[in-house]
Amino acid sequence: FMITSNISNAVNALNQGELVAIPTETVYGLAGSAFNEHAIDKIFQLKNRPTCNPLILHTHSIEEVLKFVQYIPPAAMKLAEAFWPGPLTLLLPKKSNIPNSVTSGSHLVAVRIPNHAVTLSLLQQLDFPLVAPSANPYTRISPTNAKMVDDYFGEALPVILEGDICAKGIESTIVGFHANIPVIYRQGAISVDAIEFIAGKSKVQATKKEKVTTPGMSPMHYAPKTKFCIVDSVLDFIYENRDLKIGALTLGKLEVNLPNTTNINLSIAADLEEASTNLYKSMYDLDGMGLDCIIIEQFPEIGIGKSLNDRILRASFR
Ligand code: TXA
Ligand code: MG
Repeated sequence: FMITSNISNAVNALNQGELVAIPTETVYGLAGSAFNEHAIDKIFQLKNRPTCNPLILHTHSIEEVLKFVQYIPPAAMKLAEAFWPGPLTLLLPKKSNIPNSVTSGSHLVAVRIPNHAVTLSLLQQLDFPLVAPSANPYTRISPTNAKMVDDYFGEALPVILEGDICAKGIESTIVGFHANIPVIYRQGAISVDAIEFIAGKSKVQATKKEKVTTPGMSPMHYAPKTKFCIVDSVLDFIYENRDLKIGALTLGKLEVNLPNTTNINLSIAADLEEASTNLYKSMYDLDGMGLDCIIIEQFPEIGIGKSLNDRILRASFR
């Protein structure tokens, strides 16, 4: 088994109904043929994911997408043209060639064209689209490099396609439509503002602690095993809890150096895009250090900061 840069290894494995980890600009995906029931089963099994949680279809062009969906509403087409290839997932009415096991019985299929040269090339070499959830066991942190995928699955996943660190670092933004009005089911690498700039006013499905209304809105997602807390002030928390082994994720340099504290700076320049690239990997690294807790302050509620806040909020649910 291996982490490989050789796309033909992935093509061969996928043609044989095997699974392959693929790099995308958001997170790594656990991919299989969308037209192979056996491969679809294996995805759910390997992730230990409930089969009621549907999969995103990945392909390489709008022309291809039209083979799998009945139509693309005008607002969706505007978004597709603005953001594909890119971290946008559209919920569209599926054609009958898409198996119900992909959509968990829904008449809507989630589709996206990922913006990653390796995976676009792979998709162009296949006769079928790929279904790919994030390549993590259910409820764990999504992987943003090949090594994390290997740590999670080891020999159970023989082919991991190397694609460096995921540039965006958080999942795609999922958008559905009610009468041509965009409904944002998952905030992600494209900000709500950017979606609205192209497609007009949207409705955002809020993240709620108690209620799970839609697939993809499961609150227990992206969680480290270590206790994860959103705090008002990282500095205050550290000073008030000197007996604890603390992992602190910060935006900018932490002006304190205590022996019990491990600091990872998500972006020296406090840049939200850079913080997004680094967030999951940093959470994962701290999670492996046997700390008492991981702390972080809310991100500024602007642009992609809202999506990052959604993720850290979910990570803090127990
Ligand atoms: O950035 C991404 O979207 C990554 C990369 C690999 O493309 N994929 C990803 O997949 O995040 P996954 O399975 O971890 O999350 C997809 C979410 C799920 O929460 C699922 O419930 C929702 O999309 N979803 C998929 N198909 C859907 C459908 N037909 N209707 C409603 N929600 C759907
Ligand atoms: Mg996921």
